[in-house]
Amino acid sequence: MAELFLGRRDPWTEPPMGLLAELTHRCPLQCPYCSNPLELERVNGELATADWRRVLDEAADLGVLQVHLSGGEPTARGDLEEIVAHARGLGLYTNLITAGVLLDERRIARLQTAGLEHVQLSLQAAEAATADRVGGYREGHGKKLVVARLVRAAGLPLTINAVVHRQNLDQLEAMVGLALELGAHRLEVAHVQYYGWALRNRAALMPTREQLEAATEIVERSRCELRGRLAIDYVIPDYWAKRPKPCMGGWGSTIFNVTPQGKVMPCHAAASIPSLEFASVRDHSLRWIWQESPAFQRFRGTDWLPDPCRSCALKEVDFGGCRCQAMALAGDAAATDPACELSPLHAAMFDVARAESAAPPPEFVYRRPRREAPAPLPGRLTAEVAS
Ligand code: SF4
Ligand code: FES
Repeated sequence: MAELFLGRRDPWTEPPMGLLAELTHRCPLQCPYCSNPLELERVNGELATADWRRVLDEAADLGVLQVHLSGGEPTARGDLEEIVAHARGLGLYTNLITAGVLLDERRIARLQTAGLEHVQLSLQAAEAATADRVGGYREGHGKKLVVARLVRAAGLPLTINAVVHRQNLDQLEAMVGLALELGAHRLEVAHVQYYGWALRNRAALMPTREQLEAATEIVERSRCELRGRLAIDYVIPDYWAKRPKPCMGGWGSTIFNVTPQGKVMPCHAAASIPSLEFASVRDHSLRWIWQESPAFQRFRGTDWLPDPCRSCALKEVDFGGCRCQAMALAGDAAATDPACELSPLHAAMFDVARAESAAPPPEFVYRRPRREAPAPLPGRLTAEVAS
């Protein structure tokens, strides 16, 4: 969704552009880098169709332009067509973010008739064996390829989302070729960002520096060769970066999430920050939540920034990086993101990337637990690790 973050916006005066509607946390796949929280929200607490209609009404009234229908797997909801139709009726651009395996020709036709305008389909690898192992879903890859072709046959624009990591980067060139063959308009090559399940599986996913450099070279070459045929977005891994990304385009500035049970958050991982309380659409208007709720104000803009960000020329560019990563790695959501080389924890973050990518990868911990106890979450960084 890099296109959402173009341009400078003043979050105090401008409305959000996008709503990420997490319709459900249910999903037949169980990718080890899932962006959903470790504690998934249960189906019996999900917002009803009428609730989502009201959320969409309020979003359109607030000035939202795009709604991204996500999950979990949004097609697990039988009322998806109603939700799409309602959004389209309000003039909202509707984008479906899906793993695809529950779709077929009739459902795609129904969604298109309801007003769906764009499909983002995830692929876990180029080869079925790797893709099905990563997604934890047998024969999923083959189904996805069928669905991609059906989406294009219906005339819907298609983006392929390829999350890349140490266990599928050797297939990146083939993923570019596959996206082209499937008739995708855009390919998003996104290195794993380590929150939630991805943090738990970090050691199994962390690429080596050499893998990252090879991937960057493939992306740059493909962008040149395929100009005008396939647009390629590229997100690099923070652990090997020198500067952090402007996460979410800045906290509370551009887009917000509504969780399956109706909590409204500035990003998908914000529930990992224990000091924040997130208001629900069941109790408050979206306008109040966006403009006045304490959680949206806490890290908005740059006045709250600590040193070294406070006096840094780049503070209006990256807003000090990602709050959730600062929480996970520094134990303080208000700290400079350790992805920045000016953070005292940056060297320790590099050391983690170097050590984990050099060791043999452990088994994935999937979302649906096996009998044995899951591996513990990786610990926080300490500056001493670097010395
Ligand atoms: Fe960004 Fe802060 Fe690093 Fe400057 S010091 S580059 S504002 S994270
Ligand atoms: Fe929450 Fe970056 S994921 S601020």
